[in-house]
Amino acid sequence: MEILIRDSLEAGAQVAASVVSKIIKSEDKPVLGLATGGTPLRMYHELIRMKQSGELSFQNCTTFNLDEYAGLSREDERSYYFYMMSNLFDLVDIDKNNVHLPDGNAKDLREACRKYEQQIKAAGGIDLQVLGIGANGHIGFNEPTGSFASRTWVKILSEQTMQDNSMYFDKLEEVPRHVVTMGIATIMESRHCLLLANGAKKADAIRKMIEGPISASCPASILQMHPRVTVVLDEEAAYLLTFKDHYKWVEKNKLEWQRY
Ligand code: F6R
Repeated sequence: MEILIRDSLEAGAQVAASVVSKIIKSEDKPVLGLATGGTPLRMYHELIRMKQSGELSFQNCTTFNLDEYAGLSREDERSYYFYMMSNLFDLVDIDKNNVHLPDGNAKDLREACRKYEQQIKAAGGIDLQVLGIGANGHIGFNEPTGSFASRTWVKILSEQTMQDNSMYFDKLEEVPRHVVTMGIATIMESRHCLLLANGAKKADAIRKMIEGPISASCPASILQMHPRVTVVLDEEAAYLLTFKDHYKWVEKNKLEWQRY
């Protein structure tokens, strides 16, 4: 894992955006896996700025989002479809035909999950998968103790995640319990993962992910087995890391071609 620790949220967002823009510029038909939530918002702002300044174009990009609530319509402001349109897709030059999110409203959710996996495959797989992390170590909505072999499927949110996400809803009871999420195996097949985390609330999950044993108790810990993961942290999310100084040392001493 490549661990990049930055002392401000802006600096972290810039590094993350530069990883994304590098992939977009280096691939003819880049395929991006995207995340929602609070964490990637600054990175999306930076990517929009790059597009507006003419540095970057999303014209050739195809995207697949990690997850979606089951039962919320696309017009619902709390749906991840709405989030992606208003925070990125409506503000850049992406062809909306190339944008994919799991369909949380499909009549046959299981069939929709199978189709989503096929669509990812047909696009040639994901070049770069952007990830956040739950305070409990989830990636996508793969909650602790779920299978590392899982594929896009309907999952049940943990009570902790429902609590964490309730800030986007009027009441806890309104948070959907069911979600459609890429599975851990789907995420592990992407060629490069970019995981972002900020704030002390994520520090314990980050410690377990990077330095703990690989265990389904912390789903993100499976990323230790992925050949190419870039982790961008602020100081607070990194504060429990035993080898924090080592990660900074490694970054300082990388050869030019080894840098993100
Ligand atoms: C969102 C997703 C989730 C979030 C995680 C962190 O698409 O897959 O795993 O990345 O819950 O959420 P925030 O960034 O709101 O702390």
